[in-house]
Amino acid sequence: MAELNPGWIRSCRTAEVTNEMIGKRLTLMGWCHKQRDLGGLIFITLRDRSGEVQLVLDEDSPAAMRDKAASVRSEFVLAVQGILRKRSSVNPDMKTGEVELWVEDLRILSTAKTPPFYIEDDAGANEALRLKYRYLDLRRPVMQENLILRHRVTKLTRDFFDVEGFLEIETPLLIKSTPEGARDYLVPSRVFPGHFFALPQSPQLFKQLLMVAGYDRYFQIARCFRDEDLRADRQPEFTQIDLELAFAGQSEIMDINERFISMLFKEVLGRELALPFPRLTWQQAMSRFGSDKPDLRFGMELHDISDLAADSDFRVFQAALSAGGSVRAITVPHGADISRKEIDSLAEYVKTYRAQGLAWLVPSDLPRGSILKFVDADLIKKLAERCDASTEDLILIIADSSDDIVLTSLGELRLETARRFGLIPEGKWEALWVTEFPLFEYDEEEKRLVAKHHPFTAPMLEDMGLLDTAPEQVRAQAYDIVVNGVELGGGSIRIHDQDMQNKMFSLLGLGPELVEERFGFLLEAFQYGVPPHGGIAYGLDRLMMLLAGESSIREVIAFPKVQNSSCLMTGAPGIVDNDQLMELSLFVQHKKDETTTPDDIDEDRE
Ligand code: AMO
Repeated sequence: MAELNPGWIRSCRTAEVTNEMIGKRLTLMGWCHKQRDLGGLIFITLRDRSGEVQLVLDEDSPAAMRDKAASVRSEFVLAVQGILRKRSSVNPDMKTGEVELWVEDLRILSTAKTPPFYIEDDAGANEALRLKYRYLDLRRPVMQENLILRHRVTKLTRDFFDVEGFLEIETPLLIKSTPEGARDYLVPSRVFPGHFFALPQSPQLFKQLLMVAGYDRYFQIARCFRDEDLRADRQPEFTQIDLELAFAGQSEIMDINERFISMLFKEVLGRELALPFPRLTWQQAMSRFGSDKPDLRFGMELHDISDLAADSDFRVFQAALSAGGSVRAITVPHGADISRKEIDSLAEYVKTYRAQGLAWLVPSDLPRGSILKFVDADLIKKLAERCDASTEDLILIIADSSDDIVLTSLGELRLETARRFGLIPEGKWEALWVTEFPLFEYDEEEKRLVAKHHPFTAPMLEDMGLLDTAPEQVRAQAYDIVVNGVELGGGSIRIHDQDMQNKMFSLLGLGPELVEERFGFLLEAFQYGVPPHGGIAYGLDRLMMLLAGESSIREVIAFPKVQNSSCLMTGAPGIVDNDQLMELSLFVQHKKDETTTPDDIDEDRE
């Protein structure tokens, strides 16, 4: 039934027709969005990535064409020729609503099965189905807008860094492992049996080597691969806007980058972000917001009430404080009327973040709360003052022997409460830098220090003396850019001295042989003249998620993977045949109870 294109060339896309073309003969091609057969009159909405236009066939159209049009179903691919004319009834909801193409000739270039969901924005199809038929999902206008926006953003990015004197240079995908804290994806080598390439977690070492090579401003829109647990803002393969600068310090790097982000927001959203962005040290961010990526769109800052809590008779507070912990609180504005049930549910919520309980207090004239028995009127007044709470507010308190648990659980509670009670203003954009991160963090499982950013990050000069005595107190020359509570990007000034880099490896517990084997090439390069350098990388997918107003990065990636890192459309990863394994000198030994195909895993999930 499908016909060939008789050599026609499209005059324009469907929604690119204009009133000026009225009376002209046009050739259009696209998908049938809808066909309505009213007997003498047949309407077809023709759709492509620009939008839609109405086609019409009436008694004056050739009978053979009318018959053909009557057989057209949704998603058939059509080529039409006809005359553009003014519509008798204008459709104000359609960009091309003032015109229609009166069809003289129609070719059905492809027929189509009925799609598993409507190709419409509010189709309501579940995500698994959308991802299985992603090529149909991508026909929906909202997905097309997201991908078109993504194209625009990468173009703006390339233009911006080009003007700033950066060169886009590709770095390899088959590499030796670059540690960024996740598991590597490995690629077996055929030539060297038992040897593996790693896919890059980022271009980190190569961009540093480009600085050694003299390419003083590098950038790349780079694919990165990390085998880690996925969330709404993480994918196993994702894209970074990656850059590195030689001879530049932290302030120069921050200046260029905040101009970059503010340019994007202006071009894409028409919003001016005030420069320079506010800066918070990691310490300030943690103690004021309980997060290293604080959402500054609303207040509800954390208050340290440890000294006041020490005056209460509450055993939980006393126990936390005597074990070296803290007691901290947030104030929910106008939260006095929040129900007990709701507070209980918030208490459940904070348990996920290892807080053992949630105390509460409404400091009204007739105070209420879970700690009323243990606090007198004077203490309630002091608590209300410290927490900036009026008689209409609710104070939520967490105590724990670990200050870390108090801060992070209260930080999450701040976000959750704000979300539940609609306290986050819409349409607001708040960017900031978080600086002075700790250089190390303690890995409880491995019982050793690990790099908080990565092992190539330079310590702050002021803290060099602490490297041997109190390494966990050393701050890094590292910085993250955060917008509305999303970590968009992170970077650092690098170590560019061989001895310092060796020292760093040894503090991380990496022996000389391992260092030589894994990073020997970098240390060798450091013997041949290294400019001081630093850089940053943005998660492009996260940036797009924010700019497109989406809540998952899957909505801004053409072919994303699902939670278990599989692709629902192609079924990857797949099993390979034995010959292929033999060629790679590989033998697969399944673990007991191991699921063997992504489909098995998927069924488990559902
Ligand atoms: P980092 O590991 O902080 O730094 O990554 C930089 C940014 O990449 C994004 N990102 C991700 N996006 C989607 N899915 C993931 N799995 C994922 N992991 C990270 C985040 C993050 O802020 N080489 C250093 C940068 C540097 O030091 O210059 C690096 O990769 O938005």
